[in-house]
Amino acid sequence: MSALTELTNHQVRLAARPVGLPKRSDWNFTTEPVREPVESGFVVKTLMLSLDPAMRGWMNEGKSYIPPVALGEVMRAGGVGQVIASRHASFPVGTYVSAGLGVQEYRAFDSGKGVTAIDLSVAPLEKWLNALGMPGMTGYFGLLDVGQPKPGETVVVSGASGAVGQTVGQVAKLKGCRVVGIAGGQAKCDFVVRELGFDACIDYRAGDVRDGLKKYCPTGVDVYFDNVGGEILDTVLTRINRGARIIICGAISQYNNTTPVKGPANYLSLLVNRARMEGIVVFDYADRYPVALKDIAQWMAEGKFTSREDIVEGLETFPEALLKLFSGENFGKLVLRVAGN
Ligand SMILES: NC(=O)c1ccc[n+]([C@@H]2O[C@H](COP(=O)([O-])OP(=O)(O)OC[C@H]3O[C@@H](n4cnc5c(N)ncnc54)[C@H](OP(=O)(O)O)[C@@H]3O)[C@@H](O)[C@H]2O)c1
Repeated sequence: MSALTELTNHQVRLAARPVGLPKRSDWNFTTEPVREPVESGFVVKTLMLSLDPAMRGWMNEGKSYIPPVALGEVMRAGGVGQVIASRHASFPVGTYVSAGLGVQEYRAFDSGKGVTAIDLSVAPLEKWLNALGMPGMTGYFGLLDVGQPKPGETVVVSGASGAVGQTVGQVAKLKGCRVVGIAGGQAKCDFVVRELGFDACIDYRAGDVRDGLKKYCPTGVDVYFDNVGGEILDTVLTRINRGARIIICGAISQYNNTTPVKGPANYLSLLVNRARMEGIVVFDYADRYPVALKDIAQWMAEGKFTSREDIVEGLETFPEALLKLFSGENFGKLVLRVAGN
């Protein structure tokens, strides 16, 4: 092991609260020495970071499901890495872990709280940020717990080719549902139908979502897993069935608004159809992650479940890489590789 004191920790800190899309000047690039682990502590070298739409919300001031990132603080990020120095019996040097590493090259932990060892014989690193990580847990519990799909029902998911959408659609298929995705572009639609096994996919950039829903959901929509909000949510509301469940997972179309969030005008469809709309925050399911992990890992091993990641390189590209989520340039779970393993 190289002496920790010889290492420099490159970091990305929040410099300003963005207005609209984040700019490079909203970030500060800083360096810091890497400190030795305290007793029962250890140091993790970041290998890959998860770039998430939620990061945009964490940059705003104000109350949410977790506090905002403070100005001057290292940007919050989930990641996977390897222990390079340790005084903790359960996390010896060499252990691969998943944890809140932040947008930086190294993080020293004073205890094992919030850190999970991961097994690369189950799946490679990037999958632990996707189907076996936070987005997979979101899709699994959001669909099954909140959506409660029944065999034969029609499930629609927006952001279909993305991290959460991939899991939602594949789990819904495994549960015997008819699955229709909504995604931007022919390539993403082809991917979810041909490689993930969805029954159909509506390219919202190419045509009217309403026409697509009429064509591909002739008996209406029983479960809608909403990742995007805005007009797409409003349109799906016009096609729901009696007793439909709508999972509010995210509203990426609204995250960079400089005007107030646009709510659904068609919400009275919930009344007419005795339907419900319910939010999900993945962290509420933390104690049940092992259940989802076991299922998804088994489906992967059986060849019934796959996932796609979009890996971009280099800590210094973080500001521009994050924007790919909002332009739809990412194709699959967006991952930033910080170092090789
Ligand atoms: N509630 C929770 O606990 C929780 C946890 C994780 C994620 N989420 C939410 O789940 C959603 C999906 O996250 P993810 O990590 O899976 O991201 P992702 O789908 O992998 O990437 C974002 C995708 O959103 C689509 N998009 C961007 N702008 C859009 C717009 N204006 N209208 C429609 N689609 C747009 C783009 O796909 P297209 O090219 O197809 O447009 C883009 O590729 C986000 O809203 C996120 O905040 C919630």
